[in-house]
Amino acid sequence: MNLPTQSQLAFDHDVLVIGSGAAGLALALQLAPTLRIAVLSKVEITDGSTFYAQGGISAVMADDDSVESHVADTMNAGAGLCDEAAVRFTVTHGREAIEWLLDLGVPFTRERSRDGRGELHLTREGGHSHRRVVHAEDATGSALENTLVAQARRHDNIELFEHHLAVDLIRSEGRCVGAYVLDRNRARVDVFRARFVVLASGGASKAYLYTSNPDGSTGDGVAMAWRAGCRVADMEFMQFHPTCLYHPDAKSFLITEAVRGEGGYLRLPDGDRFMARFDERMELAPRDIVARAIDHEMKRLGIDNVYLDITHKPADFIIEHFPTVYARCLKYGFDMTRDWLPVVPASHYTCGGVITDLRARTDVKNLYAVGEVACTGLHGANRMASNSLLECLVFARAAADDIMSCCADTPTPPEVAPWDESQVTDSDEHVVVTHNWDELRRFMWDYVGIVRTTKRLERARNRADLLNREIFEYYANFKITSDLIELRNLALVAELIIDAAMSRPESRGLHFTRDHPETDPRLDGHHTILTPAEAPRLMPLAEALATREGF
Ligand code: FAD
Ligand code: SIN
Repeated sequence: MNLPTQSQLAFDHDVLVIGSGAAGLALALQLAPTLRIAVLSKVEITDGSTFYAQGGISAVMADDDSVESHVADTMNAGAGLCDEAAVRFTVTHGREAIEWLLDLGVPFTRERSRDGRGELHLTREGGHSHRRVVHAEDATGSALENTLVAQARRHDNIELFEHHLAVDLIRSEGRCVGAYVLDRNRARVDVFRARFVVLASGGASKAYLYTSNPDGSTGDGVAMAWRAGCRVADMEFMQFHPTCLYHPDAKSFLITEAVRGEGGYLRLPDGDRFMARFDERMELAPRDIVARAIDHEMKRLGIDNVYLDITHKPADFIIEHFPTVYARCLKYGFDMTRDWLPVVPASHYTCGGVITDLRARTDVKNLYAVGEVACTGLHGANRMASNSLLECLVFARAAADDIMSCCADTPTPPEVAPWDESQVTDSDEHVVVTHNWDELRRFMWDYVGIVRTTKRLERARNRADLLNREIFEYYANFKITSDLIELRNLALVAELIIDAAMSRPESRGLHFTRDHPETDPRLDGHHTILTPAEAPRLMPLAEALATREGF
């Protein structure tokens, strides 16, 4: 039996959670009273997408709202591809999730009242027929993440490992028993063993040149799960947020959809409110429609951006509702109380991911996936605004319940071989990694973006093939670095996105191809199921889940 060498360490926990965003921390907090948990974060603990969320968390809270209405809006945005059971499950648990967060102390914005304890203020975003987005001003993510981190730090049973990057999952005796993890500060790969492993590692928007996401959204969880034998679904549905600030230094800073929810207009340079020509819901149409309309107008007119205008609202209303966005725009020279903001779409959310059931179980025993990394069937072909944080919270609870119900019957894992670096050397050509990063993100933007064609997808597929071969060779010969690991994951995920897009002969939701511009009703409810070493298939998610063995 191989035991870790002296320089490597082995860690043992009941549960290994890969990711410290809303999904990972909500799960850890629910298990912490009973189980010992390791939570990994590949950078600082707060640096996932959760921290940057602006708009809020959707939930049925208002008296004139209903679960049926939230279900219908979600299914409508999802363009005939949502799994109704997943939608009902998520929406039904919305209020409970918000109440849990209130108990933890998340400072959500309230209506003005004399005692300062008014009802929660609910804002509105695209696709929602009611005001149902609970928020903390326009910085919901930081309020949420800071609260979860503070709570997690208080728990003796939760160990937080920052700057620890999971490289690959470890399977033994037919189940997942841990992961190899790169300790970035010590440049050493350690073994983390656990009875249960949870992927809560966020999305893959960094596959595109322009993204609203932080740098870590490199699809690591999807790639690791795929290599471990899990199926992945709906990867063609990459969501582009319609309104990111167009400024060379702003790094695609998001201008929350709540600006449109509170009355903002989209305009062309001549002032034309062009959304009227695309959808009767105008600026509050679902994101796929708005992003495509902007892309269309920019290409038609040869312009670099369109404009978001909320100057018709009183200045104090704007500053009170959007203090973060206001301050950030001011930094780049735009006063949104007086100026139209130049905006462009950018890659924002990964609707597809690792297939899970309603308990968050993946295809591999004792491996769970929660949050943006997962494909639960909730989002279908287009996620409705603010449904993502809700999904993180509801499925974190579901996974926690399932782990608790089977932990008594799950033995400690067997010994695991240490990471073997005896056959590799230090890289002498880091430029290969940086060059390939840039190339990948550019061809994905140009060929696999908002508007696709079969020819563009074929071009992208050829390039992804070449890149994957080169990266494989590099990976086999040189010691790993975080850049190399992320590039390897992103290149694999890019291939999955392209393969999924190529196997859908229609346009639906976020997948629009000029060669098949219509939606094919025969494909309603048919998800793109990708299986390692098999051709992609289109089928209902429930059918794919029913074919799993050993569940
Ligand atoms: P994340 O919060 O992205 O966290 C991922 C975690 O995984 C990080 O801790 C990261 O370090 C870790 N990780 C990743 N790979 C590895 C690895 N290999 N090893 C170790 N750790 C790893 N959704 C809404 O519902 N409402 C909103 O208002 C909203 N606004 C948004 C605004 C912005 C700018 C962005 C980018 C997204 C927004 N979203 C919003 C989407 C939502 O924020 C995300 O989908 C959600 O936060 C994802 O949470 P998560 O826990 O799954 O992952
Ligand atoms: C936003 O605030 O516009 C982002 C909301 C989301 O992505 O759900």
